[in-house]
Amino acid sequence: MKALAARRHHRAAPVVLLLMALLAVGGVYAAFAPSPAQAATASTADIETGKKLFQANCATCHGPSAEGTDIAPSLVGVGAAAVDFQVSTGRMPMAMDGPQAPAKPPQMNEEQTAALAAYVASLGAGPAIPTDDQVDPTQGDAAEGMALFRTNCAMCHNAVGAGGALSSGKAAPSLMNTSDRNIFQAMETGPGPMPVFNDAVITAEGKRDIIAFLTEQDKGSAGGNPLGGLGPVAEGLWAWVLGLAVMIGGAVWIGAKSS
Ligand code: HEC
Ligand code: HEC
Repeated sequence: MKALAARRHHRAAPVVLLLMALLAVGGVYAAFAPSPAQAATASTADIETGKKLFQANCATCHGPSAEGTDIAPSLVGVGAAAVDFQVSTGRMPMAMDGPQAPAKPPQMNEEQTAALAAYVASLGAGPAIPTDDQVDPTQGDAAEGMALFRTNCAMCHNAVGAGGALSSGKAAPSLMNTSDRNIFQAMETGPGPMPVFNDAVITAEGKRDIIAFLTEQDKGSAGGNPLGGLGPVAEGLWAWVLGLAVMIGGAVWIGAKSS
């Protein structure tokens, strides 16, 4: 005891104490943490393949065990949905640094994407990939979806999902070519500057309603060129400009004939 008391004032004492406390907290957490829900459904073979793919393609930025680095965030607990979204839209593996990871043709095929998702899901519980039922637009209510979209999404993505610019060189993309699954996954995981819309903010049904609404937008508005989704004002403007040109042309022609 005496020896311990003497060392209490040692310069390294706070550091040692801190390390001991951290170890204790970590140990308690490891003992009581809920086991990841999806780990059970993915096969160990998938997880192993995913781990190898991860080390070859992702570890340089996200760290050898996905714990995060100065360049890229930790992926522990982001869930299979985040990986499926990021990899299937080609955002990951990210090619170069920028204000936002751009979507590009995917580099991984479906099996590789699934394996990567299984590996990351095995590191910590997070949002799972939704089932086909959860994202089926025919089971959603497009009118409800429109109301939800206008309040939660339109300020960034435009009222019909055509996309728009944000500050600092960032942009909210058009949602016209996004798969149903990725619409759901984007809401669940909040990629880049987009906020997360968990079930407390928009329920699973609400998410399906939004998918139904966006699917309707996809089919296009009734007739005409969308003109970048600017809507009837833009179309009216063109009618105005062309109509006026025809009338002026007509007036000039009549004037020229009579003189
Ligand atoms: C604060 C602005 C903002 C809000 C609000 C927002 N988003 Fe986004 N969203 C973004 C940005 C920015 C991206 C691109 C992120 C990236 O590339 O990393 C994005 C990406 C997406 C994508 C992926 C598109 C693709 O094709 O890759 C979908 C789908 C999406 N958002 C849907 C929604 C829905 C649905 C809502 C409302 C529930 C919503 N967003 C609300 C900014 C926003
Ligand atoms: C060149 C560096 C780089 C490489 C390589 C890379 N990433 Fe990323 N990753 C990033 C950065 C930076 C972000 C944060 C981007 C953002 O927020 O828009 C990110 C974000 C992510 C996210 C979103 C995390 C979240 O919180 O939702 C996932 C998932 C992800 N990466 C998976 C992968 C996978 C899987 C690979 C390999 C196939 C990979 N990344 C390769 C740099 C990289």
